[in-house]
Amino acid sequence: MAANWAPDSWTSHEARQLPDYPDAAALTAATDTLRSYPPLVFAGEARNLTAELARVAAGEAFLLQGGDCAESFAEFHPNNIRDTFRVILQMAVVLTYASKLPVVKLGRMAGQFAKPRSAGTETIDGVELPSYRGDNVNDIGFTAESRIPDPKRMVQGYSQSAATLNLLRAFAQGGYANLAQVHRWTLDYMGRSPWAKKYAETADRIGEALDFMAACGIDPETVPQLAQTSFYTSHEALLLPYEEAMTRQDSLTGDWYDTSAHFLWIGDRTRFEGSAHVEFLRGIGNPIGVKCGPTLEPDVLLRLLDTLNPGRVPGRMTLITRYGHDKIEAGFPKLLRAVTREGHPVIWSCDPMHGNVVKAANGYKTRPFDRILAEVRGFFAVHRAEGTHAGGIHAEMTGQNVTECTGGAIDVTEQSLADRYHTHCDPRLNAGQSIELAFLLAEMLNAEMAERRKVAA
Ligand code: PEP
Ligand code: CO
Repeated sequence: MAANWAPDSWTSHEARQLPDYPDAAALTAATDTLRSYPPLVFAGEARNLTAELARVAAGEAFLLQGGDCAESFAEFHPNNIRDTFRVILQMAVVLTYASKLPVVKLGRMAGQFAKPRSAGTETIDGVELPSYRGDNVNDIGFTAESRIPDPKRMVQGYSQSAATLNLLRAFAQGGYANLAQVHRWTLDYMGRSPWAKKYAETADRIGEALDFMAACGIDPETVPQLAQTSFYTSHEALLLPYEEAMTRQDSLTGDWYDTSAHFLWIGDRTRFEGSAHVEFLRGIGNPIGVKCGPTLEPDVLLRLLDTLNPGRVPGRMTLITRYGHDKIEAGFPKLLRAVTREGHPVIWSCDPMHGNVVKAANGYKTRPFDRILAEVRGFFAVHRAEGTHAGGIHAEMTGQNVTECTGGAIDVTEQSLADRYHTHCDPRLNAGQSIELAFLLAEMLNAEMAERRKVAA
């Protein structure tokens, strides 16, 4: 257990990006309510995830983390949850087949509400108002009233997270995740895609492997695991009053766990030395992540790792790079070398989203798909040069057919961004772009594995 730590010890550190709640009594009432509610996840599940992630850190598995930039109360609908879950499973099947590695599936779901903002205020037509900070803080509507932080929103966020997680657990265990079915969805999808030909060979081989297994008597009837999967949840641990209220002492081990999700991460804006968010994450037993952007220096990262994972527990730390397509190859190697040299067991995961935001001529915030792919290629290239494992991908995506990121085989143009632009924060990959990304990742993972076999031979 971390020394000199308590669930509220973050309050004596510098906290950035937290709302100023005008009504202190309402804040206490909301956090008291949350404290009396059941945990959303069980500590044992978080430990299982750490064990699965330890395999990723050892180069024996791959991490797929994805979901909304920001979940919202308005988009809360079973179809949205189902479709995002389905696309994550489709991506996982493609990745598993290509790499012959198990894929750890982690949703940015069931709790991803609070958002860090580059500016504290937003100005439209000369009117300046406090920024929107996520649905569990304030309302996205552009009125002074909407933007007042309301602690009751945390309780609504909890309820939505509980219902979302319940459905995800049902899908994961109840038969929806059946391997053969997931592959049929991909084939069906590919049948309608202009890029189908390019990936037909991989898809055919997956189909043949499944047919072969079925002929040998290995199918969901005989091997129930084929109809089930494990699925974990994650979000940015930004809104510390909420996270603190959800933090409980595990009755089995006596350790503290943040029971709002299996995995929590801190963002690029809150990982600075002396940060309240680092202090909070230091004491929880969950596996955790840190976003690593271009301003992070190796010595600061090493100190951060000593603070967050002094016991060097494999699977505890995931470092999520988010450089931008034009900065990754120059900036990332120095972090990778320092961490490798010091022997910290970490997972390196690539977030190709947050360094690649541009403003389209018509004002929409977007991310060109080719820049996203370029950053992923750069990430793999750095690992190839250093002989290390490209351990994971972190994507903002949805199962819906949105038009938020430009490009992709079914080209989303700047003009078509307005058609279905629904995100409450950053632009997400749509279902087609997500599956296309998975096929590209599959090619690169396949190459990494071939290289490893060559070195071993
Ligand atoms: C995010 O993941 O939504 C996010 C804000 O990322 P970052 O902290 O890397 O900017
Ligand atoms: Co985002």
